[in-house]
Amino acid sequence: MLILNADEMWQAVSLPKVMDTVEEAYRIFAKGEFFMPDRPVVTHGDDTLLYMPCFTEKCFGTKVLTLFPANPAKGFPYIDGLMLLNDAESGKTVSIMDGGCLTAMRTGAVGGVGMRCFSPASAHTVGVIGAGKQGFYQALYATCARDIRHIYLYDSFPGKDFGPYVASLQAALGGKQPEIHVCGSPEELLANSEIVVTASPATSPVMPNDTALLKGKCFVAIGSYKPTMRELPNAIWELVDHVYTELPFAMEESGDLSQPLEDGIITEDRVRYIGDYLLAHPVPVPPPPGTTTYFKSVGMGLLDLCVADFIYHEALRTGMGQKVRF
Ligand SMILES: NC(=O)c1ccc[n+]([C@@H]2O[C@H](COP(=O)([O-])OP(=O)(O)OC[C@H]3O[C@@H](n4cnc5c(N)ncnc54)[C@H](O)[C@@H]3O)[C@@H](O)[C@H]2O)c1
Repeated sequence: MLILNADEMWQAVSLPKVMDTVEEAYRIFAKGEFFMPDRPVVTHGDDTLLYMPCFTEKCFGTKVLTLFPANPAKGFPYIDGLMLLNDAESGKTVSIMDGGCLTAMRTGAVGGVGMRCFSPASAHTVGVIGAGKQGFYQALYATCARDIRHIYLYDSFPGKDFGPYVASLQAALGGKQPEIHVCGSPEELLANSEIVVTASPATSPVMPNDTALLKGKCFVAIGSYKPTMRELPNAIWELVDHVYTELPFAMEESGDLSQPLEDGIITEDRVRYIGDYLLAHPVPVPPPPGTTTYFKSVGMGLLDLCVADFIYHEALRTGMGQKVRF
C-alpha cells in the first residue's frame, strides 16, 4: 500500500493535468460510467462527517472528511480527512492519502475547469472572496486556467493578517508572479475582477444584490454545500440564463440553488450540468468578454476518486510516498 502525504501529492502532479483529470471525471459522470451513492452526512452539533464512496470501471474509493467550523479559530484546518483508494478487482486498498490535500487539489482544479469553460480567454484578473484554504488553491489554479496578471482577495475575518497568506501564495505561484491585492470590500473586488470565485462558508450572500456590480463576470461559487449556506445574491439570476453545476443533488444540497428554487426565482430548467457541456465541447469554447456566467460546485466523490487514482499512478511513476506492507 502506498501512503502519500500532502507534500508528496503536490510533488507528484502538475496542476494542468489535475484539471484535465477533473474534466475527464465530469465526462465520466455525463456518460453514467460510475456508481456513486448519495454521500452519507453525519452531523454532531456543528461538526460534520462526510463519507464519499464512488466506483468507476477502473477503481473505487472513499473519501472520509471532517468539517469542524470551530477549527480555524483554534489554528486547525476546517477540513481534514483521508482518501482510501482501492483496486477494482480485489477490493484491496492500494493507497491512503491526505483527504484535506486531495479536497483542495481537486476543488482548485474544479474552479480552474469552470474558468476554462466559462471565462473569456482574455481574462487577466481574478477575485477570490473567502481567503481560506480553498480560496488559496482557487487563486493558484486560476493562473493555470488563464493568463492572470492581478489577483484580488477579500475576506471578512476581522483583523485577518494577509501577510503570511500572500507570501505562501507568492511562493506557490513560483515563476508566475501576478500582483496580489487585498481588498477592503466585496465591491472593490468586484470592480476589479473579470473572474470572481466565492470560497466561504457564508450563510448569506457575500456580495451586494446589485446587477450593475455583477454584470459581465464569470462567477465560480465553491463554498455553499448545505441548504442554509449561500454565497451568490438573487441579482445573478437577472444576468444569466442558466447556471452550470455538477449533479442534480446540488439543487437540494446548496442554498445557492435550493433557495432561489424554493422562492420561485428560478425553475429547474435553468440548471445545467458541466459534464454535458464537456461532452459536447471536447475543447471548451470560452464566452466573449463581457458575458456573465455562473458555475456552482458542490463537489462529488467521483472527482476525488479520479484525482486520487491519477495522483496514485503519478506517485508510483515518480517514486513518491511510502510503501507499507499490512
Ligand atoms: N465545492 C466543493 O467541492 C468544496 C470543496 C471543499 C470545500 N468547500 C467549501 O468551501 C468553503 C471554504 O472552505 P475552506 O476549506 O477554504 O475554509 P476556510 O475556513 O479555510 O476558509 C474560509 C474563509 O472564508 C472567510 N469568510 C467567511 N465568511 C465570509 C464572507 N461572508 N465573506 C468573505 N469571506 C468570508 C473566512 O474568514 C475564511 O477565511 C466551505 O464552505 C467548504 O465546505 C467546497
